[in-house]
Amino acid sequence: MASRAPQRPNNASPQGKICQFKLVLLGESAVGKSSLVLRFVKGQFHEYQESTIGAAFLTQTVCLQDTTVKFEIWDTAGQERYHSLAPMYYRGAQAAIVVYDITNQDTFARAKTWVKELQRQASPNIVIALAGNKSDLSNKRMVDHDEAAAYSDENGLLFMETSAKTAMHVNDIFLAIAEKLPKNDAGGTAANRPTSGVDITQGGGSNPQGGCCGRSQ
Ligand code: GTP
Ligand code: MG
Repeated sequence: MASRAPQRPNNASPQGKICQFKLVLLGESAVGKSSLVLRFVKGQFHEYQESTIGAAFLTQTVCLQDTTVKFEIWDTAGQERYHSLAPMYYRGAQAAIVVYDITNQDTFARAKTWVKELQRQASPNIVIALAGNKSDLSNKRMVDHDEAAAYSDENGLLFMETSAKTAMHVNDIFLAIAEKLPKNDAGGTAANRPTSGVDITQGGGSNPQGGCCGRSQ
């Protein structure tokens, strides 16, 4: 079970800082990217989740101790024919979740190529998490947990095995990312972003170029 729940904006401390981050999900088709987002944003799971066309956009907010973090989530389509669109979604992203399916070795190999592509072409400070999804299917496991953990250590990635079906570690992986993202205005948020100055209170639009970090009143 997920141990920590995301919280809605109205639970945020009025004194706290509000940060907005663009997060992209990448990975082979059918590994469960949309299912992870659906679990995180709506607390739901669909056995027959439809394959994504192009990309989907959703938002969710989590509260840390003194900061409210709003994620602008771009859920990309994993089918190979959409690969050329991916840079549009990871460009300017402050965070990425690269997903593979623990029951399918090929998806782990594909995840590694996504990590390489992000390391070469995405923002240099991007926070990357690797999610080994479908951990509820451990009887069909083909990707060793420790191998993926060691690979993540070597590459400076956050790593968790998740299950969109049972909710295991789904909130935790987003929270771990929220905690790792820089929240200081000068140090790693607005200053390092391609755009800045988006007031989160004005509706948090779907700007694919990234967000900002500002203070609430
Ligand atoms: P594309 O949109 O084609 O890139 O696929 P996707 O990565 O978004 O996968 P999607 O979320 O559509 O899930 C594919 C299938 O896997 C669906 O039938 C889901 O119900 C199933 N699925 C997703 N996550 C899990 C999980 O954690 N456990 C199990 N058992 N099935 C899952
Ligand atoms: Mg999808």
